[in-house]
Amino acid sequence: MAFSGTGKVWMNGALVDWKDANIHIASHVIHYGSGVFEGARCYDTPRGSACFRLDAHMRRLYDSARIYRMEPRVELAALTDAVVETIKANGHKACYIRPIIYRGYNALGVNPFPCPVDIAILTWEWGAYLGQDALEKGVDVRVSSWARSAPNTFPTLAKTSANYANSALIKMEAISEGYSEGIALDTFGHVSEGSGQNLFVVRDEVVYTPPLTASILPGITRASVITIARDLGFKVSEEMLPREMLYIADEAFFAGTAVEITPIRSVDKIQVGKGARGPITTAIQKQFFDIIRGDAPDRHGWLTFLDGQSSLQAVAAAGARTTR
Ligand SMILES: Cc1ncc(COP(=O)(O)O)c(C=O)c1O
Repeated sequence: MAFSGTGKVWMNGALVDWKDANIHIASHVIHYGSGVFEGARCYDTPRGSACFRLDAHMRRLYDSARIYRMEPRVELAALTDAVVETIKANGHKACYIRPIIYRGYNALGVNPFPCPVDIAILTWEWGAYLGQDALEKGVDVRVSSWARSAPNTFPTLAKTSANYANSALIKMEAISEGYSEGIALDTFGHVSEGSGQNLFVVRDEVVYTPPLTASILPGITRASVITIARDLGFKVSEEMLPREMLYIADEAFFAGTAVEITPIRSVDKIQVGKGARGPITTAIQKQFFDIIRGDAPDRHGWLTFLDGQSSLQAVAAAGARTTR
């Protein structure tokens, strides 16, 4: 979906008009991919707008910056406040949130140290990433001919702009050949993840997902799915998965901020299970959306309301009121 081109962008502490949120072409990030960023979502709930696991996203952002030896000029808590301020300034009820910390303009060369560490926050309204239909019917995917980066090359625990050159290759290959997404293997041939989402498979009622050592981004949706699946009483195993596990799975699904929880109905034209969203995927997906929509209790305190209260604070306050 194209941008509307309106609204405000937070840049190094100031809210500027969308059209003025520009950086110089000689900025380091443009040439060398020296940016780390986040993708989070704010949802419209009956209690008001709430960001999903904003604290976890901001922590990963600062972890990514640390891996790349960047010192943000703003403390984590203040940048979290700036995210909320930007959403409010744009009047969004629900939106996608993109904070980015990047090496800006000063000098060009591989060495990023002479360049400033700049920060921006973008927010925009964004619906279902693979289409609304995909959330229900599932998507057709292929195993990519591109592998995820090898250990000790591009660190996958960092969500860095540079890593998305690899993601774009995976995505373009899949789209060009009529698939919605590609699943990358790691350089040892184990299942890793999609171009911009983590992966789960279900077999004999056990929920499997590759571990952090399989060149994956440590997804916040992935962590939430693991918690939800265990809460629902399913066994979850984080383990290395051979490619062929994808072909014999009863169910498979993607998890990520953009795709949320999207079932996979075929891999390499081999039908997954019955070729439709399976019962365990449905149960996990339902719980996920129920929490986000405020239809299920936010037991783990995952929602940060724009009115300044976390769900846990709201629950505590409500409890205090009723016991008084
Ligand atoms: C490569 C990759 N893996 C996994 C994910 C899922 O992570 P999260 O659930 O934190 O959005 C993303 C999304 O940002 C991603 O880009």
